Amino acid sequence: MIIAPSLLAADFGRFAKDTLRAERSGADWLHLDIMDGHFVPNISFGPAVVLALRPQTRLFFDVHLMCSRPEILLEPFAKAGADLITVHVELGERVTPLLWKIKSLGTQVGLAVNPPTSIASVRPYLGQIDLLLVMTVNPGFGGQAFIEETLPKIQQADAWRREQELPYRIEVDGGIKFETAVECARAGADTFVSGTGLFNQRNMKAAVRKMRRLVTEEHRRHAKLVKKSV
Ligand code: DX5
Ligand code: ZN
Repeated sequence: MIIAPSLLAADFGRFAKDTLRAERSGADWLHLDIMDGHFVPNISFGPAVVLALRPQTRLFFDVHLMCSRPEILLEPFAKAGADLITVHVELGERVTPLLWKIKSLGTQVGLAVNPPTSIASVRPYLGQIDLLLVMTVNPGFGGQAFIEETLPKIQQADAWRREQELPYRIEVDGGIKFETAVECARAGADTFVSGTGLFNQRNMKAAVRKMRRLVTEEHRRHAKLVKKSV
């Protein structure tokens, strides 16, 4: 199980310090939300920030592009040290060339789906990706409430993964706190992005440990149930 604090919830005046805080908390990945003020109504930070943070940590950099024109950003983020780059399925016919481009840059490939978009839209790409990001809020801002209606999408993504014996991770992002993380683990998620849910805790290390323990226990229960039903 992967725990990925989102830097969007960090102190924007102290990115380096908060990156270290995430690393010391025992998290596996650092989730980096890139917003262009067009695909979503907010602007965050760009490749220069990622490049500056790269030498500060060994954390895996999980770059989530909420951008209308990711094609112009893939190379800069790969060069800045992204380990995985995710683009949105809402970009339609541009998705296939984007996935190929990400792969050709030597980084892992992610595909994200927004809450109102049908999970069927990602189906044609499942064999080409390392990670499927099921958004559990409408992207754009941290600190929003988890949308329960996204849970069946996670279940469907998990069922397809089993049926087709594919290796992609299922990541959830938005409103992930202890309880909602457990609900997502029960549905089949294995990678948990949490911004305010982790950064706003006084003891981030204890929070990461608790989230990991809760989702691991739930994942084991879920795996047993699935095995029984087969
Ligand atoms: C939402 C971003 C999320 C955000 C999550 O647009 O994609 O990664 O940082 O923040 P929380 O965990 O506070 O909902
Ligand atoms: Zn994100």
